[in-house]
Amino acid sequence: PAPGWAIEADVVVVGSGVAGLTAALRCAAAGRRTVIVTKARLDDGSTRWAQGGIAAALGEGDTPERHLEDTLVAGAGLCDARAVRALVTEGPAAVRRLIALGATFDTGPDGALSLTREGGHHRRRIAHAGGDATGAEISRALLAAVRAARIETVQNALALDLLKDAEGRAAGVTLHVMGEGRHDGVGAVRAPAVVLATGGMGQVYSATTNPSVSTGDGVALALRAGAEVSDLEFVQFHPTVLFLGPEAEGQQPLISEAVRGEGAHLVDADGVRFMLGRHELAELAPRDIVAKGITRRMRERGTDHMYLDARHFGAAMWESRFPTILAACRAHGIDPVTAPVPVAPAAHYASGGVRTDLAGRTTVPGLYACGETACTGVHGANRLASNSLLEGLVFAERIATAVREDAPLAGPPVTPPPGPPGTGLPSPEARVALQRLMTAGAGVLRSGASLAEAAAALDAPAEDRKPAEPGADSWETANLRLVARVLVAVAQARAETRGCHWREDHPEPDDARGRHHLVAALRTSAA
Ligand code: SIN
Repeated sequence: PAPGWAIEADVVVVGSGVAGLTAALRCAAAGRRTVIVTKARLDDGSTRWAQGGIAAALGEGDTPERHLEDTLVAGAGLCDARAVRALVTEGPAAVRRLIALGATFDTGPDGALSLTREGGHHRRRIAHAGGDATGAEISRALLAAVRAARIETVQNALALDLLKDAEGRAAGVTLHVMGEGRHDGVGAVRAPAVVLATGGMGQVYSATTNPSVSTGDGVALALRAGAEVSDLEFVQFHPTVLFLGPEAEGQQPLISEAVRGEGAHLVDADGVRFMLGRHELAELAPRDIVAKGITRRMRERGTDHMYLDARHFGAAMWESRFPTILAACRAHGIDPVTAPVPVAPAAHYASGGVRTDLAGRTTVPGLYACGETACTGVHGANRLASNSLLEGLVFAERIATAVREDAPLAGPPVTPPPGPPGTGLPSPEARVALQRLMTAGAGVLRSGASLAEAAAALDAPAEDRKPAEPGADSWETANLRLVARVLVAVAQARAETRGCHWREDHPEPDDARGRHHLVAALRTSAA
């Protein structure tokens, strides 16, 4: 669709989580006219749901080098060590800047930051806020700063496509906006620097910890723009999501890894701690290993969930340290003070995304990406717990520096942009079908056969699907379909088990052939 209105800016940031807000604040502070566009309300993304915290070498005796070692081990041979080094060395100062900005983290009686542990970390290095409401506090502080800096925002704005100039450089984005007064309908923000920070794609699956807005929009937009994406096969399944029954769909309540960090045990229905003996860190092994341990035990026992037992915390600790999780469990009729909590793995985090260099530049000039949307190389085949908020902070700051150094310029956009088609879009029913087929074929466990079935279903002609009106819902489903198709293709190509990519038909890593990244791009006819 052709834009009906346009805003002019130096930088447009798409997304309003930790990465997008940080990038916008830094670009605005450097004097760039910055506009934030966000698909729903400003705090509707994943950041505000983050529980456990933000990892950084802030504790006594901890060092960036140790944080680097744990990150590389979790990443199963596919991290970019230079990116990880940037993350862990710049991380502590980035967290301190967040505190200086107004974010309040939990402290001990001596006033020092309280630090907890999560899977894969050999030390206590996770800072948290409000007990288990870290993301909400970070989001609050960043949004207050964005308001104070008077950065223009457009809410309810689904980014459709990248505008490019005749040289193929980014020139802005087209948007579909609902209910925002003078910026309603299809319009555009024209800017020579476009920062994608749209979060993840958990809604590709039936059950996920991600909010409903996590529909892979940034990755889909980047693919349509001809940018490269990498590592999409590495979808991280969080081991401990509150199990609400086999039919539960959509966003599910997370039970933070920090609960295990404080000493909760994973047990089966007989109370056996099945992670003991499977890894030296037992329940605190890296996330992929715990998710596999749970899935294996579920298979052995012929059941669809395990239990997290933290009755020994007692009521006072549950109330002070994990108030959000306690409330979520009780809202579903489970009291963790008196009973083990039923848990199962669910889709949680896209370790891959839009491929960037160390400054957040994608393969399209003027297009940058950070946060979960990006693949900077820090996560490799499996993200280390609580590295994502940190990545959002550190790489957003790097993008602001790159925008300053690159000083991108764009000619007039070549219109109309390729754009999601106005007809033949998938219906809401098609989204549910897609989520189910992805869960069955490309979930925590995959095989050549299950992936082939998923690929065939995704490629099936659309006659059985009711055509939908063009609109946010159908465009989102088109995005989900595109990222799902690429995810399945690279998962088929990776014939080994590595990190969070678990192939039943190839249960071991293939170090001779597997230590490389699978990079994908669409062929585009646009400049
Ligand atoms: C959690 O609190 O378990 C989630 C932390 C993360 O995904 O990094």
